[in-house]
Amino acid sequence: MNVLITGGAGFIGSHVAVRLLTRGDSVVILDDFNDRYDPRLKEARIAHMFEDGKKPVVVRGDIRDRELVEKTMMEHKIDSVIHLAAWASVQPSIDNPYIYSDVNVNGTVVILEAARKAGVSRIVAASSSSVYGGITEFPFREDMNIMHPISPYAATKASTELMCATWNNLYGIPTTCLRFFTVYGPWGRPEMAIFAFTKAIIAGETIKMRGKETMRDFTYIDDIVQGVIGALDHANGYHVYNLGESDGVPLPRMISALESALGKKATIEEVPLPSGDIPKTLSDITRAKVDLGYRPSTNIEEGTKKFVEWYHEWHDRIFTQTKLD
Ligand SMILES: NC(=O)c1ccc[n+]([C@@H]2O[C@H](COP(=O)([O-])OP(=O)(O)OC[C@H]3O[C@@H](n4cnc5c(N)ncnc54)[C@H](O)[C@@H]3O)[C@@H](O)[C@H]2O)c1
Repeated sequence: MNVLITGGAGFIGSHVAVRLLTRGDSVVILDDFNDRYDPRLKEARIAHMFEDGKKPVVVRGDIRDRELVEKTMMEHKIDSVIHLAAWASVQPSIDNPYIYSDVNVNGTVVILEAARKAGVSRIVAASSSSVYGGITEFPFREDMNIMHPISPYAATKASTELMCATWNNLYGIPTTCLRFFTVYGPWGRPEMAIFAFTKAIIAGETIKMRGKETMRDFTYIDDIVQGVIGALDHANGYHVYNLGESDGVPLPRMISALESALGKKATIEEVPLPSGDIPKTLSDITRAKVDLGYRPSTNIEEGTKKFVEWYHEWHDRIFTQTKLD
């Protein structure tokens, strides 16, 4: 396949790129390397692919640039699109809703229109567990009514799904939206809890636990990649799938797992969960198991151990050295 991965310098996109290149697909990455978080990490993910002999085509640009997106799809004869580029994270979307709606909604429309014009035969797009918003029935199932978003970010992800459904209805391109549940692992995003807590615990700083009742279905990156590839390979019609671990992990359990992996106790300050964040997420993954052969297999204890190993090996190389050796 000739696969375009939007947001391919990002956390999930870079892992998906490596998996596709390993199995022999051609990969084009479109990413603007923006500074929502430290772009050195994005550069390092790409540099690491090349060091490892994986050679994607890297196009630096914005998914809202219609001409560039159309040219990229045509020039590289793209037949499959994995659309992951977005502004992620709940809290910043409350402070800056415009960039979220612009990139996540308008950018998605650009991708869908360009895919139609380029004759793309399948699309996989990133949604999020945040679309479940104020729902208090667990686990979250794909057929629940998601019209109760509690953050601009969640609303943009629900809109992504609506746009994908609309384009599928109009033009019939097989399209799958994946609701990712709190993804973590090596090369993860620095502002997410597992990364930020690891850094703080090592530095002996206090970590802020947003409610000890808060529960997240933390999902290990390798499991997510398996689900994304499964969705790509099983494309037909329009579908929405939860990709989670189906394990509701209270924050204290995640912190204990990190403490064991780091061999160091955390100093914890409990603070209230900010508005916009969901108190509890838990996925029902029956649909993805049946249709995509999705089989997540990494619990939080194993996953944090792997993350901490990566952190020790890479953090300083990425963030304190200007050039990778
Ligand atoms: N990581 C998670 O826990 C999680 C959970 C739910 C949903 N998601 C969704 O999965 C997708 C990937 O998430 P991630 O964790 O890898 O995030 P990420 O921020 O690491 O990756 C997104 C990438 O998109 C790029 N990008 C953003 N705006 C762009 C634009 N206008 N043009 C081109 N590139 C642009 C960024 O530079 C970044 O490299 C996102 O759509 C996100 O909303 C992630």
